[in-house]
Amino acid sequence: MTTTICFANNKGGSGKSTSCSNIGYALSAMGKKVLMIDGDMQLNLSLSFFDEDDVLAYASSGENLYEAIKNQKDLTDYIIHTKYENLDLIPSSTLMSSIEYELFTKWQREFILKKCLKSIQESEVYDYILIDAPPTLGGWVMNILIASDYLIIPVEASPWGLFGLANMFEYFRAVQEMAPNLKLMGIAVTKVDMRKSYFKQTIETLHELEGVHIFDSCIRVDSSVEWSQDNSAPVVAYKKSSRSAKEYMELAKEVENYGSR
Ligand SMILES: Nc1ncnc2c1ncn2[C@@H]1O[C@H](COP(=O)(O)OP(=O)(O)OP(=O)(O)O)[C@@H](O)[C@H]1O
Ligand SMILES: [Mg+2]
Repeated sequence: MTTTICFANNKGGSGKSTSCSNIGYALSAMGKKVLMIDGDMQLNLSLSFFDEDDVLAYASSGENLYEAIKNQKDLTDYIIHTKYENLDLIPSSTLMSSIEYELFTKWQREFILKKCLKSIQESEVYDYILIDAPPTLGGWVMNILIASDYLIIPVEASPWGLFGLANMFEYFRAVQEMAPNLKLMGIAVTKVDMRKSYFKQTIETLHELEGVHIFDSCIRVDSSVEWSQDNSAPVVAYKKSSRSAKEYMELAKEVENYGSR
């Protein structure tokens, strides 16, 4: 069975792309076959695996998610291999900024990504498909949620990280009505700064949310994350011994074991 998980939160900079790339790499390192899909015009997931020149070349070619969605093509033909075993990617394009406009006139516009992903999901070639969403709550993110089995919400451990989470939940529940099989896997707490006491309050507040799973492994602020991104690699691959790499490995194990909880 292929499990499709998306990373979404309308709050920008909450660690969606960093979590998606690292959990994706960690799962592949655990021997799982993983396909990652970059759903954001910022190209951050693509930049986690390829250098700028390659990412811009994919973005300006016809070989990216934007072209596939715009023309409603089977995504199988848009898969590229990363340099890592078991880890493939569908790159994005800066033109994703106009995807809402493209979707607007389409029949059943909330289900286009689901349709384009269908044959990859049904082939069961991949154990996991991970989708990185942009920081919005429009029709495109609705497509991403509807194409997924699970949502993971990365939340930054800060006051503004929590602000807006209510909107995210409301949106998630509205989408669930169209996709009753969609489930919230949990909240991943990211960018925890142990020097500041505030993070404890964030975690306590999150634990008060009824029926919402909060992953045990929190990701602390670590400059290795930025160095790895500067080197077009997830930190789990770039510096395995770093604090954040170990934390992301643990988080990936929690994701992998989720079904057996
Ligand atoms: N654990 C960490 N330690 C240090 N910096 C981090 C960590 N996690 C993420 N960052 C940095 O925080 C910024 C935001 O992270 P990221 O891009 O993953 O968030 P995002 O939710 O995908 O953002 P957007 O909403 O713009 O798509 C990036 O500059 C990233 O390098
Ligand atoms: Mg991002």
